[in-house]
Amino acid sequence: MASGSSDFHWQTALRPIVALAPMAGVTDASYRQLIKTLAPQAIVYSEFLSTDALAYSGKKTMAMMHFDPHLERPFIVQIFGKKPEHFLAAAKVVEQMGADGIDINMGCPAAKVVSSCHGSALIKTPELAAELVHAASRAVSIPVSVKTRLGWNTAETLIPFCTRLIEAGAQALAVHGRLFTDKFTGSADWSAIYNLKEALPQVTIIGNGDILIAQDALDRIGNLDGIMVGRGTIGNPWLCRDICDAFAGKGVHSTKDSMTFAEKIPFILEHCALAVKTKGERKGMLEMRTHLAHYVKGIKGAKELRARLVRVETLEDARKILGA
Ligand SMILES: Cc1cc2nc3c(=O)[nH]c(=O)nc-3n(C[C@H](O)[C@H](O)[C@H](O)COP(=O)(O)O)c2cc1C
Repeated sequence: MASGSSDFHWQTALRPIVALAPMAGVTDASYRQLIKTLAPQAIVYSEFLSTDALAYSGKKTMAMMHFDPHLERPFIVQIFGKKPEHFLAAAKVVEQMGADGIDINMGCPAAKVVSSCHGSALIKTPELAAELVHAASRAVSIPVSVKTRLGWNTAETLIPFCTRLIEAGAQALAVHGRLFTDKFTGSADWSAIYNLKEALPQVTIIGNGDILIAQDALDRIGNLDGIMVGRGTIGNPWLCRDICDAFAGKGVHSTKDSMTFAEKIPFILEHCALAVKTKGERKGMLEMRTHLAHYVKGIKGAKELRARLVRVETLEDARKILGA
């Protein structure tokens, strides 16, 4: 992994931006590398990492930041926390590791996160939120962005909140079209995100929420600079490529639905191999169990196959069960 300077800028990133959403427990290095092989244009985010841990170079958190600079660029590291001095220190560590950008989590609704005044809770403390952006952005030369939600319990605060973040130094915003109070219920509402772009036309604004097929991306891009996709990629790592193709006028298709399960097996095994390469066989394959269950969803005999796949311990186990 190389430290050093990145020439990534949100303003010059290829439009429309297609970003892989940060997902804790999902978007580790193997997942990001798989997505990047299929959709080289995608911008990938890490899982969220604690600024408290990064500030003290916590071993586990530092390991979670490992990435392959040849396969994973642009690579954005997402951080969370609430102490400005830790944001300053963490931002320096992230830049030193060679990442292309730093994203601040102001959207996580998890009770554990919000009760510590991290994540979505920052929407209720805009002054502190701006201070964190300022602390991170003055510490580094790579761009700082924020991922947030429409608001706490109303989308009316979105424009003033985001304006403050931009004034504090944020260069891009990814907005999940739900309120904190929605958690993951209902459907994402993108209208306030379009209004935000109208209010801040110079700022890179990325919309997020409920993109499951390429047509969803075409339908939702509107006036935005890009889209971010999360859950739709689980069990369907081809989705980012389908979206890139649709944006490039190469037709709207679903690679996942056009392939037989036998045709998917090499990709699934490639995912396993990347997990083993990045985390070692035991940890890598244990973590692959959930992904394997997603890959077989909907196929004939899924139940029996899943029951065996969620017990794999080695890459060879997966190969045998999949008949490869
Ligand atoms: C398993 C899981 C983990 C997530 N972890 C994070 C995270 O670490 N940071 C973050 O900003 N959002 C996180 N999110 C939220 C997603 O980034 C995204 O905003 C949300 O899932 C909506 O987009 P989607 O409908 O495309 O999935 C997570 C979501 C899921 C399902």
